[in-house]
Amino acid sequence: MASVAYSIFILSLFVFTIVNLHPVSSEFDEYFFIFGDGLYDSGNTEYIIPDEYLPVYHSPYGNTYFKHGTGRYSDGRLIPDFIAHKVGFPDFIPPALNTSANFTYGANFASEGASVFDIQQNNSLNFRNQVRHFIELIKEWRADLQNITEVNRRLKKAVLLINIGTPDILNANITSNTTDAQLETITTEVIGNISDKIKVLYDLGARKFVFQTPPPLGFLPYVKQTRNDSIISVKLNIVALLVVDELYAALMEIKQLNPAFNFTIFGDFFPIFWRVLLPPLFGFNESRVACCGNGTVRGQGCGVLGYEYCVCGNKTEYLFFDGTHYSEAANKQLVELMWDKKSGYIVPYDLKDFFEISNSTSLKSAT
Ligand SMILES: *[C@@H]1O[C@H](CO)[C@@H](O)[C@H](O)[C@H]1NC(C)=O
Ligand SMILES: *[C@@H]1O[C@H](CO)[C@@H](O)[C@H](O)[C@H]1NC(C)=O
Ligand SMILES: *[C@@H]1O[C@H](CO)[C@@H](O)[C@H](O)[C@H]1NC(C)=O
Ligand SMILES: *[C@@H]1O[C@H](CO)[C@@H](O)[C@H](O)[C@H]1NC(C)=O
Ligand SMILES: *[C@@H]1O[C@H](CO)[C@@H](O)[C@H](O)[C@H]1NC(C)=O
Ligand SMILES: *[C@@H]1O[C@H](CO)[C@@H](O)[C@H](O)[C@H]1NC(C)=O
Ligand SMILES: *[C@@H]1O[C@H](CO)[C@@H](O)[C@H](O)[C@H]1NC(C)=O
Ligand SMILES: *[C@@H]1O[C@H](CO)[C@@H](O)[C@H](O)[C@H]1NC(C)=O
Ligand SMILES: *[C@@H]1O[C@H](CO)[C@@H](O)[C@H](O)[C@H]1NC(C)=O
Ligand SMILES: *[C@@H]1O[C@H](CO)[C@@H](O)[C@H](O)[C@H]1NC(C)=O
Ligand SMILES: *[C@@H]1O[C@H](CO)[C@@H](O)[C@H](O)[C@H]1NC(C)=O
Ligand SMILES: *[C@@H]1O[C@H](CO)[C@@H](O)[C@H](O)[C@H]1NC(C)=O
Repeated sequence: MASVAYSIFILSLFVFTIVNLHPVSSEFDEYFFIFGDGLYDSGNTEYIIPDEYLPVYHSPYGNTYFKHGTGRYSDGRLIPDFIAHKVGFPDFIPPALNTSANFTYGANFASEGASVFDIQQNNSLNFRNQVRHFIELIKEWRADLQNITEVNRRLKKAVLLINIGTPDILNANITSNTTDAQLETITTEVIGNISDKIKVLYDLGARKFVFQTPPPLGFLPYVKQTRNDSIISVKLNIVALLVVDELYAALMEIKQLNPAFNFTIFGDFFPIFWRVLLPPLFGFNESRVACCGNGTVRGQGCGVLGYEYCVCGNKTEYLFFDGTHYSEAANKQLVELMWDKKSGYIVPYDLKDFFEISNSTSLKSAT
């Protein structure tokens, strides 16, 4: 009996130690995971292709805010950075592939060019691989916290921000001859592959999903420069709109089977549509030409070795920083629209609902 009592004593010491090492109710109690492509990538690409020269680690990328390249595809902060700041996270959410980072509050799995399809990508993490890294991270949470209830509580509270599918639509070889039925097929395949992975994330315990849907892709300087065909632009814009409808239907289907599933959709189409058409209304001087790149609309080549490219003077005047990514000034505006559903662009909930931030608590406003 004595030895059993002794074992219990030792065990209780052990439990006590674990509880002390990992307090289950740390002061800050918000969790944030990010999935997507270059719009959200905060440095993962560096770890995927460490031997390649990456323009995003060099000027002019990052110059506006960080004063140096950080792996972000913009002149400064990205959408997840502004969100982290508004919610009050102690720091930006780190790229998941930086194994020396601290993932207590979440991780960013996004990677430039990420495909929604299960294709092999040597330069990027496709969506399935992003989900795979998420599964690994949750295993680490379980090992660290030694408390499944607590891990599940955090997962339930966590907000998952997802923007995926744009590279696939741009790579789908849409021509002026592509039929409406083919556009539908592309959309259905993209949404089917998103839906698949959302179910996996839900089964792991995640509950709050925020989706950002594509902008009018035909308006991207990169598309204007490399395709230069107004019919192709219109077709790309149609796909961007089809994605919203189909995504909503697919998510409603998941919700019908799983009432605890919670989602909201930020439609990026109209915010960008209006900023491209009427830039001065939103404080921009230039919305058709990117800040950095080559060619007439600077649609490509920003920072690429061996090519000449231009860089604008005042980056806050530009909607696009390079041919496919927004300027920091634009990212900041988009987060304001996602933060409060009164903007009309995020339905049915907004970020402050999902992070459960009451409007009485004083928020640090992103500057
Ligand atoms: C990775 O994370 C560590 C710890 O936060 C940080 O010191 C380091 O700069 C990061 N590495 C890169 C390449 O960003
Ligand atoms: C990670 O961050 C959390 C919250 O700030 C802190 O409690 C913990 O000690 C950090 N972990 C490591 C290994 O630094
Ligand atoms: C990716 O890497 C694999 C293995 O190294 C190689 O066989 C394949 O051709 C590469 N694919 C591309 C698109 O570069
Ligand atoms: C595990 O976490 C739950 C809440 O998340 C808490 O109520 C419980 O006390 C924790 N258990 C231990 C052994 O720390
Ligand atoms: C697009 O065209 C390229 C070159 O013809 C081809 O390699 C690629 O597989 C095509 N992509 C799709 C999605 O059909
Ligand atoms: C579109 O179809 C027309 C007529 O069939 C053909 O001449 C043309 O080459 C096609 N264009 C493309 C981009 O496939
Ligand atoms: C995923 O995309 C592929 C095309 O790459 C398609 O064949 C497949 O049906 C899609 N999966 C789902 C579940 O829609
Ligand atoms: C598109 O093509 C026209 C005619 O060749 C050319 O004048 C124009 O500069 C091109 N636009 C872009 C963005 O490359
Ligand atoms: C712009 O740079 C890209 C490399 O990113 C290159 O392929 C393209 O030919 C360049 N275009 C011009 C007009 O210089
Ligand atoms: C840059 O442009 C913004 C917006 O037009 C303007 O408010 C700001 O004063 C400009 N900054 C400089 C240094 O010219
Ligand atoms: C979804 O989230 C909203 C906002 O946080 C909340 O009011 C609602 O009860 C949630 N619905 C479910 C089914 O959890
Ligand atoms: C806070 O929210 C309540 C209820 O939604 C609303 O009545 C009130 O006006 C809000 N206060 C502020 C300062 O926005």
